[in-house]
Amino acid sequence: MPSVYIKTYGCQMNERDSEAVAAQLVAKGYSLAASEHVADVVLLNTCSVRDNAEQTALNKMTSVIGLGKKERPGQIYGFMGCMAQSRGKELIDRLPDVDLVLGTQKFHRAAEYLDELLAGKRERIVDTADEQGSEGTIKEHLLNGAAKDKAVTAFVSIMQGCNQYCTFCIVPYTRGEERSRTIPDIVAECRQLVAQGVKEITLLGQIVTSYGRRGDVWTAAGSEAPRRFQDATELHDAKAPSPLRSAGALQKSAFVQLIEAVHEIEGLERIRFTSPHPKGYGDDLVEAYARLPKLVESAHLPVQSGSDRVLKLMHRGYTRARYLEVIRKLRAARPGIGITSDIIVGFPGETEADFEETLSLCREVEFDNAYLFKYSQRKDTPAAAMPDQLPEPIIEERHARLLELINEIGKRKYETFVGRQTQILVEGPSRKNSARMSGRTRCNKIVIFDGSERHRGQLLDVKITRVGSFTLYGDPAIVGL
Ligand code: 5AD
Repeated sequence: MPSVYIKTYGCQMNERDSEAVAAQLVAKGYSLAASEHVADVVLLNTCSVRDNAEQTALNKMTSVIGLGKKERPGQIYGFMGCMAQSRGKELIDRLPDVDLVLGTQKFHRAAEYLDELLAGKRERIVDTADEQGSEGTIKEHLLNGAAKDKAVTAFVSIMQGCNQYCTFCIVPYTRGEERSRTIPDIVAECRQLVAQGVKEITLLGQIVTSYGRRGDVWTAAGSEAPRRFQDATELHDAKAPSPLRSAGALQKSAFVQLIEAVHEIEGLERIRFTSPHPKGYGDDLVEAYARLPKLVESAHLPVQSGSDRVLKLMHRGYTRARYLEVIRKLRAARPGIGITSDIIVGFPGETEADFEETLSLCREVEFDNAYLFKYSQRKDTPAAAMPDQLPEPIIEERHARLLELINEIGKRKYETFVGRQTQILVEGPSRKNSARMSGRTRCNKIVIFDGSERHRGQLLDVKITRVGSFTLYGDPAIVGL
């Protein structure tokens, strides 16, 4: 049977989609190749969020084809995911040796299309059409064997798409409209993962706080007239009177109902999710942190900018004050909660004063870490046509200043762990040094320690002895044996 090599660019959703494609192909008898040099099929799962992510994938495909034509005639080449969706056939016009272009609603068709291409039934396939129900097709996992050692953690895709239309962002165009899976469907997948040894599940979506915005999340599609559930975004719209409290008791958004349902699964130790939107981060979700022990004290909450003027231009739907309020409530509910963020530097029209507001917000919040992105113009997004696009050197300079601040704050926060005992879930050997084991704290910090395979999957208390760059080191002597 043929072998396939899949390389993934971009976010955790992309990682998850690639895993589902790999699992689907393995189930059909394909083997997973360790590199493009030994594969019959090479698939690149692409990211479009910034231009350099697209360029990297295009360059990679060019070099893979260059070598493959010499060394592996007949090798099949495919682009999948966001860039495949947004560029479609244009990718074949540009690289005529590409055989397959598979959009974001078509991952589940990979095996069928590759079979046709390998059998020579079709010469080329481009499929980027919308497909109803595709949000429910990312469910196969690769837990053991071929690709991975026994997995302790797993990602579960709960929804697809995005309706927020931030002015900088290409995702609504590459991932389509928001569509959610049902709670019973998601819980069944989680249960199966836990039965296979998974201890920690991360619920994934572009904006998980918008989960269940349409239709009924409790009933299988089409089986009944849908009951409408409010989504967190509507429930917590800052301008609306608080409907959450109006009936006396706290109403729960569909997302919190989902977390509660997953929380019931026996044997599951930890629940994470990414990414929420600050606008949808309501009191019911804050309250869930205080109430549900498996929901770990960690939140990735993209802020993008500290300036109200820029937030408005970005169409983010919250103010700096509202963001800070969410952080304050989270910290009150779970002191010690790890908070990380995404920030864009150099959005069109960002002034020095706007940028300083971002710096001051970072000082105020004290993020454990933040991912910084230099603004990149994306095709057909409103921000690409805005006036005052900033010159590269200004973006570079602001990026360097912000990075320095984030590193300084992060170092300080990580250092507070030294000497403390903390619980970790051991995931497997450290990526950088396979002689050591790696785990994560509940607040999502990596801890490296001198353990062994028998620690995999265990919850251990370790004492933190020193700090590396956004990494903690635990004392092996303290590891419970
Ligand atoms: N330019 C730079 N960064 C971007 N992001 C999304 N679109 C762009 C863009 N056009 C960043 C945001 C988002 C993260 C995943 O990528 O910060 O949260």
